[in-house]
Amino acid sequence: MQVDVLLGMQWGDEGKGKIVDVLTPKYDLIARFQGGPNAGHTLEFDGKKFVLHTIPSGIFHEGTMNLIGNGVVIDPVTLRREINNLIEQGVPYKERLIISRKAHLILPTHRLLDAASEAAKGKDKIGSTLKGIGPTYMDKTGRNGLRIGDIETPEFEQKYRALKEKHLQMLERLNYAADGLDEMEKDWMDAIAFIQGIPFVNSEYYINNALKDGKKVLAEGAQGSLLDIDFGSYPFVTSSNTVCAGACTGLGIAPNMIGEVYGIFKAYCTRVGSGPFPTELHEATGQRLRDIGHEYGATTGRPRRCGWLDMVALKYAVMLNGVTKLIMTKADVLNAFEEIEVCTGYNVRGEYTEEFPYDHSAEIIETITKTVKGWNQEVAVDAPLPQALEDYIAYVEAETGCEIAIVSLGPDRKQTMLRDKQTA
Ligand code: GDP
Ligand code: IMO
Ligand code: MG
Repeated sequence: MQVDVLLGMQWGDEGKGKIVDVLTPKYDLIARFQGGPNAGHTLEFDGKKFVLHTIPSGIFHEGTMNLIGNGVVIDPVTLRREINNLIEQGVPYKERLIISRKAHLILPTHRLLDAASEAAKGKDKIGSTLKGIGPTYMDKTGRNGLRIGDIETPEFEQKYRALKEKHLQMLERLNYAADGLDEMEKDWMDAIAFIQGIPFVNSEYYINNALKDGKKVLAEGAQGSLLDIDFGSYPFVTSSNTVCAGACTGLGIAPNMIGEVYGIFKAYCTRVGSGPFPTELHEATGQRLRDIGHEYGATTGRPRRCGWLDMVALKYAVMLNGVTKLIMTKADVLNAFEEIEVCTGYNVRGEYTEEFPYDHSAEIIETITKTVKGWNQEVAVDAPLPQALEDYIAYVEAETGCEIAIVSLGPDRKQTMLRDKQTA
């Protein structure tokens, strides 16, 4: 058996949570491979809405296990909050959730360091979610980090204190007051005790054994390809590899075990936080997309910046990830538009290119766009799609060389059109 991967093609929030939930009945295991509580994955069904940050989006289905992989960074406080939400809703999480021993822990001081680092950057700040993601991955690569498996050792508190002291010295150098740390720390320690109720596993063995036993596995990405630490619009990126290769390192699966790669994108484009966004619409049309699409961050509530679909960026993401099937979400948000624009190429300092440039700053990029006809009508999963939407889909398929296997027409689980027989 192989591992299918589902990941974002844009700057995150493409609807990964919703689609993973839709696909879960086909899988035995859903495994998150990177990121942490900077993610906000929204699921809607039976009139209820859930936002998951650390827990994989398969948790609501009986018979499917959910693994928080080694590539994920975990804040026990957020994880406990997510679990308490599940308990309130009567979801039997205990039978369905496991955590990799090799996943790294976000300490309260990582969150303070994130805030201190952003404050020091001033107007050049990344627009981080301030969940401590960057500092935690820095400690991971710097070989200082604390991992889930450390909780099981007698030296855990001692290791915690040593790392905290190091962080306090860093905060002092940054002139950042560690206000409220005592309380944060108590809450964190309580949450550490709480999460010990979830099995910690050697997840690289767990997942490879599952594959040997013929189990079907779906790897769930967080963020999006344009936020990838290597290939995104650096430095305005997150601190992990969000691309498909991250599923290998974030779960311990070999590259030749990757099966289908689902690349998910919105029918337009959004970005939250700072950084280049060449197709951004600053005026009324951007606001219209934001209003109709309810484009406000699932984690921070910040308004998302909105713009047209960028084919240069989408083709770049298809290439980097080896996408085999595309998934288009939020097509319904464009229902009322008579015309839709698509970016087909860039002029970078006067030179035409269809490549995602090294310097992606909007000031030096002039977007070349083409206008396509909107469908200008309501759409539903139980009716044929309007011709203009079929044409839009066919255009993206022709340009990317990938079929669009799923079209999502609303936030609810049921508002999903599975177009190819294999996915259906
Ligand atoms: P994720 O981070 O990729 O899981 O995406 P988010 O949950 O952050 O953001 C996607 C938002 O769009 C959520 O509020 C979803 O409920 C919603 N959504 C997902 N698919 C669709 C769709 O096809 N149409 C509409 N209108 N909303 C959608
Ligand atoms: P999901 O999984 C959208 C953005 C932040 C910021 C940058 C760095 O829901 O798609 P970080 O906290 O990682 O240091 O922030 O990345 N960002 C996201 N944007 N969706 C996400 O996750 C994001 N996770 C991080 O806004 O610009
Ligand atoms: Mg999100």
